[in-house]
Amino acid sequence: MAEFDYDVLVIGAGPGGYVAAIRAAQLGLKTACAEGRETLGGTCLNVGCIPSKAMLHASEYYDAAANGAMDDMGIEVAPKLNLDKMHGQRRDAVKGLTGGIEFLFKKNKIDWLKGYASFKDAHSVKVAGKTVTAKNIIIATGSSVTPLLGVEIDEKVVVSSTGALELEKVPEHMVVIGGGVIGLELGSVWRRLGAKVTCVEFLDEILPGMDADIRKESRKIFKKQGIEFKLGTKVTGVEVKGKKATLTMEPAKGGDSETLEADCVLVAIGRKPNTDGLGLDAIGLEVNERGQIETDHDFRTAVDGVWAIGDVVPGPMLAHKAEDEGIACAENIAGMTGIVNHAIIPGVVYTKPEIAGVGLTEEDAKAEYGEVKVGKFPMLANSRAKTNHEPDGLVKVISDAKSDRVVGVWCIAVPAGTMIAQAAQAMEFGATSEDIAYTCHAHPTHSEAVKEAAMAVQGKPIHI
Ligand code: FAD
Ligand code: NAI
Repeated sequence: MAEFDYDVLVIGAGPGGYVAAIRAAQLGLKTACAEGRETLGGTCLNVGCIPSKAMLHASEYYDAAANGAMDDMGIEVAPKLNLDKMHGQRRDAVKGLTGGIEFLFKKNKIDWLKGYASFKDAHSVKVAGKTVTAKNIIIATGSSVTPLLGVEIDEKVVVSSTGALELEKVPEHMVVIGGGVIGLELGSVWRRLGAKVTCVEFLDEILPGMDADIRKESRKIFKKQGIEFKLGTKVTGVEVKGKKATLTMEPAKGGDSETLEADCVLVAIGRKPNTDGLGLDAIGLEVNERGQIETDHDFRTAVDGVWAIGDVVPGPMLAHKAEDEGIACAENIAGMTGIVNHAIIPGVVYTKPEIAGVGLTEEDAKAEYGEVKVGKFPMLANSRAKTNHEPDGLVKVISDAKSDRVVGVWCIAVPAGTMIAQAAQAMEFGATSEDIAYTCHAHPTHSEAVKEAAMAVQGKPIHI
């Protein structure tokens, strides 16, 4: 009889966990995955990436019809919003994709252990009243909403991203607390559908972690789209009476407080790793000061046989980062060499235009390399963007002045999320800005702006 029930047991079926389980099974390991949700796919498929993109895409159509963009192209329409139907297509997208993971589990003979797992010891967990043992256990429990002290999320008037995806009617005034990725994506959805949107951000600029030029330019674009910003402002309380909320705010640096009325408040101030109820004490595994589980490069935790990946470990909380860690972790367990290059993980904000970046900001590049070269190219001068009536944005390429090796690329452009892939690939291959500048790009494409920004690093763009 085998010593353990499974070679690999994954806790959590988000993009980190389900991908790790599939890769482990593909490599011939007997694999199970514990998931307490009704459906597989984790935050990303159920209440994150997928439903938010379904609402972003649909609201983009509505906006184009309602606010003149289609009219500008000679298409005259009088749109009528059917929010129920819009939610229906969101739910269909989620259902299709979560069901797809269930199919992949069956195809790869992965046992789905339905329930929340907690450790009994380093090689066994309790799930749905049963003890299950495994030689290797991967923690992929993801993250959940960071609460704002003293503010109760009722998912009706005061909502998290989950509630904000499901609002039954368009709010008159939505206040978004936090000018990060969730605030801007979901704020954009409801702005496009007709809400007044005010975004309150603690810092002096939105989108922390992104390049300073990109942060500033993005805010200008959002402002043009009608989102109002209160920067350098912290929310100190939210009082709900019936269907209305009153927010109390004060300058982050101190000063007089003011109030703001809203019928919907979205709390989007970050996410925290999920470790409660996992029973980490039972295996003597501690979390760091940010509540994350630390691992080595191979995704091994401090406890032998226990591995961790995704949002529960340090690094950007992104689905593709979790997926790549899942693959690498499973490969390491199978005795291969699984690697994730954490220096080259693209990040994308799926607004219109999209905002994307990979590698270092100009500021960080200067700190790391001393002297850097920077090339910028405005989308206004890109023929395809101009033809499509999408002139907002720019591409910025940053290279190390000594070697010309590209160390950061930043884009604001309608398809920036797609454009950034070529930058990530070039950087993985150690490309110089000259390499990008002399690579033939198809015309007319938005991607030509990446080439021209690289030419600008060389001092010689053609179209500006
Ligand atoms: P998760 O997806 O959080 O999955 C963890 C799973 O573990 C959950 O299903 C949970 O139920 C389960 N679990 C937890 N504890 C236990 C336990 N003890 N036993 C069993 N199961 C357990 N990222 C992007 O890259 N692109 C996007 O466009 C994007 N959009 C987003 C939009 C929103 C609104 C949100 C909230 C997030 C978005 N993200 C996006 C982030 C992305 O969802 C996460 O980075 C990603 O889901 C992390 O994957 P994970 O596998 O680590 O964890
Ligand atoms: P975030 O970290 O992106 O932004 C939170 C913002 O809230 C920050 O700008 C912060 O300064 C601000 N903030 C914090 N406390 C505040 C306060 N009291 N008052 C006002 N502002 C305050 O977090 P967000 O948007 O909640 O997203 C969570 C995670 O989900 C992110 O790490 C992101 O990676 C992931 N995500 C990714 C998406 C994508 O890849 N497109 C989409 C949505 C989420």
